[in-house]
Amino acid sequence: MKFYLNPEPKTPGKRGDLRFLSLSEAEKARRFHRTFSQYHPTPFLHLSNLAQHLGIGHLFVKDESQRFGLNAFKVLGASYAIGHFVAQKLGCDISEITAKSLRSTSLREGLGDVTFATATDGNHGRALAWAAQQLGAKSVVYMPKGSDPVRLEAIRSHGAMASITDLNYDDTVRMTFEQAKEHGWVVIQDTAWPGYEDIPRWIMQGYSTIALEFLEQLQEQGFYRPTHVFLQAGVGSFAGAVLGFLASYLGGDLPTAVIVEPHNAACIYHSARVGDGRAHAVRGDLDTIMAGLACGEPNTIGWEILRDYARAYVSCPDWVAANGMRVLAAPLRGDSPIISGESGAVTCGVLEQLMVKPDYEQLRQELGLNPDSVVVLISTEGDTSPKTYRDIVWYGKYSAPTRV
Ligand SMILES: Cc1ncc(COP(=O)(O)O)c(C=O)c1O
Repeated sequence: MKFYLNPEPKTPGKRGDLRFLSLSEAEKARRFHRTFSQYHPTPFLHLSNLAQHLGIGHLFVKDESQRFGLNAFKVLGASYAIGHFVAQKLGCDISEITAKSLRSTSLREGLGDVTFATATDGNHGRALAWAAQQLGAKSVVYMPKGSDPVRLEAIRSHGAMASITDLNYDDTVRMTFEQAKEHGWVVIQDTAWPGYEDIPRWIMQGYSTIALEFLEQLQEQGFYRPTHVFLQAGVGSFAGAVLGFLASYLGGDLPTAVIVEPHNAACIYHSARVGDGRAHAVRGDLDTIMAGLACGEPNTIGWEILRDYARAYVSCPDWVAANGMRVLAAPLRGDSPIISGESGAVTCGVLEQLMVKPDYEQLRQELGLNPDSVVVLISTEGDTSPKTYRDIVWYGKYSAPTRV
């Protein structure tokens, strides 16, 4: 694993505009999500025996495989962006849009014939297809080469026209925009760049529901805030949303945030290392089992939050994610098992290595990971690629090169 510590993490409030991830914005997003019958706060599991084994005080894992029955957290973003798009089109406020109103005939008539499009590794595409289906709208979804056909079918099951391209993720995004321009589709993409910012901002606001939920769940357990959060990043919308909300809400009490990516798609880690303050892409096939994190170009809005407020950036090999999946699937006696996919479990894999490997002693000290720590991880997906899940968890594929 490669680590890079932020030489100059900022204190929230001094830099960056976090207003779009304020408590009131997060509450607005959750109000919208609550109008769906599928909504309930996802489980927040206290793995006390694993915490003890690792030498930390408490470990909580939020299980996003339970989100709306879709096996991943992404629907929070896609649905909220579609809600905002509809509100904007109809000239009303998002607070007037509900799951029920999205399905109403009058709203559909007012909106006309809309086709939503996106590029995806799988989870966001399924989320978008589901959200478009709620509205009775069409959706078109493109996936990068090498995508799992099971994920493709999951997207098609919500009525989307979906296909796998022969391009990598970032080129698939570009192609989606070209196609959308030609056909008049509305692209709901979960990443931002200068000039394309409203929709990704709405998506990030949608993700803040997770952070709002887990802070409340933590507070119910008697903790005001975590001391540490480990957040996995693809383009960095998810990590940026969670960290941005925490920075806005907790200010100077911000937890130590560790951003985790796969070696072959570590664009946030790379940007942090370059150190000129700007987002930098990594190129190539972005080959990793962590399909959700196989993105080479950072979301420019998310990047600025991660640049300013994260404490450490980690780039890791695939076996670390596989280890995390096995640790969560086969817990210590007394802890609950969690079905977590490759992108979901990588933070657990990193935490485990960080705590058990003697080589990381100094890093543990620098990050303040010790028996007083209260660590939150978010398992962002379940077994979205079931065969890979079995290969890893049952048959030990991608095992660690050496035992500790
Ligand atoms: C399961 C899972 N976790 C994490 C992420 C990372 O989200 P982001 O691309 O916003 O960094 C994704 C993205 O698709 C994902 O599917």
